[in-house]
Amino acid sequence: MIITIDGPAAAGKGTLASTLSEKYHLAYFDTGMIYRAVGLEIRLSGVDVNDEQQALQIAQTMTFPRMMELAKDKRLRDSIGGEYASIVAAMTSVRAKLLKMQQDFALRPVYADGTPAKGAIYDGRDTGTVVCPHADIKFYITASPEVRAERRYKEFIAKGVDISYEQVLQDVKIRDERDSNRSSAPLKPAEDAIILDTSNLGIAEVLKKACEIIDSYQKNS
Ligand code: CDP
Repeated sequence: MIITIDGPAAAGKGTLASTLSEKYHLAYFDTGMIYRAVGLEIRLSGVDVNDEQQALQIAQTMTFPRMMELAKDKRLRDSIGGEYASIVAAMTSVRAKLLKMQQDFALRPVYADGTPAKGAIYDGRDTGTVVCPHADIKFYITASPEVRAERRYKEFIAKGVDISYEQVLQDVKIRDERDSNRSSAPLKPAEDAIILDTSNLGIAEVLKKACEIIDSYQKNS
């Protein structure tokens, strides 16, 4: 079974995807990590993040082991990490280069320790529209920019990051704008996606709704 969860920054995709992957014994693929890893590699090498040729070169040499190494670096998830990821993710050549790696995972999904899984949950922006258009279930998780900024702000504060709510809100809006208006794989729900607006829903309620949909799919298939 392949499930995709797409939506804008800080909508709660990651929490939902990792909880569902444990509950239904599915591998979890955080596709944003790939763009974050390419962005961080660019940052570490001091190259201009807007230089598409250089970004493509880095994307071409990106491997899973290198991504795992970069994942240990705190800068992968800071606000510049998100900004750099969204800049490289708007480059058509970079997206094309990173697509196959994401699609191959659906053919042979594996857990974090490398053991085979019977299916996968993808989390990203275009996983239901481009990466896995034939997924069994597609969710599109969203919430107002203010609610999402509040959630991301709390995450940063919990990690000891010195940042204001206003700055986080501005970053969220800039990334929404870039993700939605890029020419390649813009952020939008797949036609057959189930849309969950989490502005007024807690994680337990979102999880309950998602589980009802998955359970009913499994019963009828
Ligand atoms: O956790 P958050 O939603 O803030 O970000 P993420 O999922 O780690 O993704 C970081 C950035 O990568 C996003 O702002 C997108 O620009 C890009 N991305 C994408 O274009 N396509 C994906 N499938 C996943 C992420």
